[in-house]
Amino acid sequence: MDIKSIQAQIISDLAAVTSQSGLGEFRLKYLSRKGVLAQLTATIPTLPPEERAKFGQEVNVLKNSLASLIAGKENGLGTGIKSSPEISDDIGMPGIAQELGRLHPITQTINEISSIFTRMGFCVVDGPAIETEFNNFTGLNIPLEHPSRDAFDTFYLKDYEKLLLRSHTSPVQVRAMKNRQPPLAIVVPGRVYRPDAVDASHLFMFHQIEGFMVDTNITFADLKGSLEIFAKAVFGNDIKMRFRPHFFPFTEPSAEVDISCIICKGVGCSVCGRKGWLEILGCGMIHPNVFKQVGINAQKYSGFAFGMGIERIAMLKYGINDIRLFFENDLRFLKQF
Ligand code: PHE
Repeated sequence: MDIKSIQAQIISDLAAVTSQSGLGEFRLKYLSRKGVLAQLTATIPTLPPEERAKFGQEVNVLKNSLASLIAGKENGLGTGIKSSPEISDDIGMPGIAQELGRLHPITQTINEISSIFTRMGFCVVDGPAIETEFNNFTGLNIPLEHPSRDAFDTFYLKDYEKLLLRSHTSPVQVRAMKNRQPPLAIVVPGRVYRPDAVDASHLFMFHQIEGFMVDTNITFADLKGSLEIFAKAVFGNDIKMRFRPHFFPFTEPSAEVDISCIICKGVGCSVCGRKGWLEILGCGMIHPNVFKQVGINAQKYSGFAFGMGIERIAMLKYGINDIRLFFENDLRFLKQF
C-alpha cells in the first residue's frame, strides 16, 4: 500500500466528515484494530528488510498526524466551524508562525498627541482628504488672489475645479464650526497634501494635527497653557517654549511656537541650526472673518487654533533625519517603534 495515496484518502475522507458520528466512523476506519493503519503495520514483516525501518517510520508519522487532525476536526465540529486541513506532502509538518504586527510610528505619534489633548477635554474629529475650495481657503479668510494662497497651494482634482486635496487640516475648523455650536474643543489628526519637491524634510503627502477651542472668554493664555501641557508631555518637563509673531490669514494675532532644542538644550547644535530653538507648530486666535464665514458671533465668542506636522514631531522626538523613511515600508526602520 502506498502511503501517499492513503494520505490523500485521509484528507478527502476527513473533509467529508460533518458530524460527530461521521468522525467516529472515520476514526474506526483508520485507527481501529483492523483499521487502515493496523493493516499497514501488519505488512511491515512482509517487506524486504532494508525497507522496513523507513516504512515503519512513515506509518508512525501518519498515525501521529491523524490524532491531531481528529482533535482539530473535533474542535471545528464543536464550534460549528468546518476545518479544512491544508493539503501538503507532509501532514505532520509544523505550521508557519505568524509575525505580530505593530502600529506605524506616525499612527503611534497621532495616538500619543491625541490622548494628551483628550485628557484636557478635547474630542477627536475626522475630516476628508478631498476638500472644497471654500473649506481649504475662502472659509479660512484666504480669498482668491490673496498671496497667502501660495503658502497653502495644493493639488486640484481634474474635472472638478472646486475640489482639491486639503493642504492643511484647518478646513476641519470650518466644517466643525458650521455643524456644531460652541463650546468647542477639538483636535483633528489627518493626512494633508502639498506640491512640494521631495527631499529629507519634504513630501507631497504628510500628516498634521489641528486643534481649536471656541467659547466665551477664550484668551491667548488658554492657548499658551494648552500648548505648554502638550509640549512638556511629548518632549519632557525641562523644555522651554517661545512664541514668535507670525502671519496666518485665519488667526490674529498669530505665532509660531519653538521649543528649546532637545539635543543641545538651547546651546546651539546642527539639529537646531545653531539657534538653540526648534519650530514645532503654528497657532493664533481665530480671526473674526473665519467666525463670520461659519456663522459664529465674534462679539460673543473667541477661540484659539493651532496646527502642527506629525512627521516633524516624530522626527524630533525619535531623532529621525529623513522624512522619507516613514513611507518606504522598510521593516528595518519600522520595527524599531
Ligand atoms: N494650517 C497652518 C499650516 O498648515 C497651521 C495653523 C493652524 C496655524 C491653525 C494657525 C492656526 O501651516
